[in-house]
Amino acid sequence: MLSDSTFRDIAGLMHGTIGLNLPPTKKALVASRLAPRIHRLGLEGYDAYLSLLHEERGDGELQVAIDLLTTNETYFFREPVHFEILRQHLGRPRERTPAAPVQVWSAASSCGDEAYTIAMVLSELQTLHRIGPGWSVLGTDISDRVLRAAQAAIYPAERMRHVPQALLRRHCLRGEGDCEGLVQLRPELCERVSFGQLNLCEDFEPLGPFDAIFLRNVLIYFDAETRRQVIERVVERLRPGGLFFIGMAEGRADLSQQLEAIGPGAFRKRKE
Ligand SMILES: C[S@@+](CC[C@H](N)C(=O)[O-])C[C@H]1O[C@@H](n2cnc3c(N)ncnc32)[C@H](O)[C@@H]1O
Repeated sequence: MLSDSTFRDIAGLMHGTIGLNLPPTKKALVASRLAPRIHRLGLEGYDAYLSLLHEERGDGELQVAIDLLTTNETYFFREPVHFEILRQHLGRPRERTPAAPVQVWSAASSCGDEAYTIAMVLSELQTLHRIGPGWSVLGTDISDRVLRAAQAAIYPAERMRHVPQALLRRHCLRGEGDCEGLVQLRPELCERVSFGQLNLCEDFEPLGPFDAIFLRNVLIYFDAETRRQVIERVVERLRPGGLFFIGMAEGRADLSQQLEAIGPGAFRKRKE
């Protein structure tokens, strides 16, 4: 059984490492997510697992625990209005010089669905001569498991159910035989997208500046103060006039003063 004090220690470790907010109401969830792993490792219980997490701090088992306690759910063209706003914003000539390089950051990219969706939109804009050829997308996440999946760029077809047919034809190869039901992204799209590990709750190297940043469906894990700090740190990397997106269900209460709302979960950085 997971005792209150061990739960508090696990919650404290997760908060200190990745800003994950685990209130007491999440105790049963934490217990059920960790139990199969503890069983598999042949450990006696949650206390032994907590000791292992402390020993392995920095990699190994801590990464596994992070994966078990966070949700990596994602899919292509999730919350499609954001991609429409991106398309319109970047396609508007007065916003920027058409040939200027465009850089977009998917800041909690999970398995890459969001980053590759952005790449599909940018590729389309290039074809329409709305942006020049110098564009790229960066995807980052805390979890190396999802980053490996993102680099492999092979997805169950189900995750692409919202991708328009024309884009599927242009960017995807359908698996056959043993690979039936899987879709692989073409190398020309993949080479525009790079992935790296980044913990949003720690100071990170100067990145960007970006024309747009997607920080979607990750703020829900953080408490109010962590959320405020993460937003400030991320928005710092956005160009004035650039776009900033959060999940549509993530509210807007404590967003940065530097942002003005332009749609549900969509903001523009003020030019001042
Ligand atoms: C639900 S997914 C969101 C994926 C995508 N942005 C979307 O909206 O579909 C949340 C991701 O946030 C990542 N994450 C959680 N805490 C993080 C942190 N402190 N730093 C970076 N990524 C984090 C998780 O590993 C997970 O892949």
